[in-house]
Amino acid sequence: MSRSERKLDHIRHALSHKRDAHNHFDDIDLIHQSLTDLDWEHLDLSTKVGELKLSSPLFINAMTGGGGKKTIEINQSLARVSAQTGISMAVGSQMAAIKDKIERPSFEIVRKENPHGVILANVGSESTVEQALDAVDMVGANALQIHVNTLQELIMPEGDRDFTSRSKNIENIVRSLPIPVIIKEVGYGMSKETVEHLSSLGVTYIDVGGRGGTNFSRVENLRREKPLTAFENWGIPTPISLIEAENTSKELHVIASGGVRNGLDGAKALVLGAQAFGMAGSLLRTLVEQGEEAVVSNIHFITRELKMAMMLLGTSKLSDLRGKSYVTTGKTNDWVEQRSLR
Ligand code: FNR
Repeated sequence: MSRSERKLDHIRHALSHKRDAHNHFDDIDLIHQSLTDLDWEHLDLSTKVGELKLSSPLFINAMTGGGGKKTIEINQSLARVSAQTGISMAVGSQMAAIKDKIERPSFEIVRKENPHGVILANVGSESTVEQALDAVDMVGANALQIHVNTLQELIMPEGDRDFTSRSKNIENIVRSLPIPVIIKEVGYGMSKETVEHLSSLGVTYIDVGGRGGTNFSRVENLRREKPLTAFENWGIPTPISLIEAENTSKELHVIASGGVRNGLDGAKALVLGAQAFGMAGSLLRTLVEQGEEAVVSNIHFITRELKMAMMLLGTSKLSDLRGKSYVTTGKTNDWVEQRSLR
């Protein structure tokens, strides 16, 4: 199977695999406020994630890339959507393109289609500083994501098994790059211990990338003859990860992703301490099944839901959402109590 065929397989499985029956964002209840003095037209959706200035907290999170015709088309469409809506976009892992020039066009096209927008480059934690700089250069990136995906690698038959240099690589890249470097999970979430460890390496930007949406254990198992099903429910759900991150002593720039379904989930993420939230699988599904215009209208719809939540919580500025009171129920509450969080 060629690399581009493997990527298409990946996309197909990412869109079709079984989702969790329960989404932990449903365990977070925000507190309704009956009276508001706000004007819809004056709700401000701009946000700052450290040095990154974004016109909206919603962004298209890292997905695909590579030399195949289909992956070029997908990235071209996503880049056009991000340019049209003004939201930022992360590209998928550029590791293959760093090693093989034939893979580069699907990344370079993102900057061509969106010359002025905020674009995030993406590498794995096996990357050297030189490779990270190459990835940034390839898309004229405003920030770099470094994804950490230990379990995905362990499930992939051809995946990495030696992780001894990962912390050192992250530390070196964070120290050397002149732009924000975001350490990102791919759907298994981050614990407070992970966040503290990252912070000790000099990391100040994290995307908790929690469980609840695209599930890479299931995606990779669909490609294995003998699936490792025991690990299909592994990982920390996104809202819990955010609470974990809030419970560290470190002042970090936190991004939420993994299982964000709508603007209300996004608002909950911001209440729990995130400054932006990413969506991947659900936007890709809309693109593949309904086309580019449907993704644009989806983004407008999600933005509208977010503004409705702001109105109902009485906040005209996104940064005022952080720390608004909320109630945890169900499994999330069990977790919060047993880990002595909040
Ligand atoms: C991804 N994701 C991902 N992440 C990353 O850092 N580098 C990558 O190359 C990819 N590739 C990729 C391909 C496809 C097809 C999907 C659907 C996703 C992970 C993605 O950015 C995100 O962290 C997870 O998908 C969780 O978010 P959702 O899908 O639940 O919104």
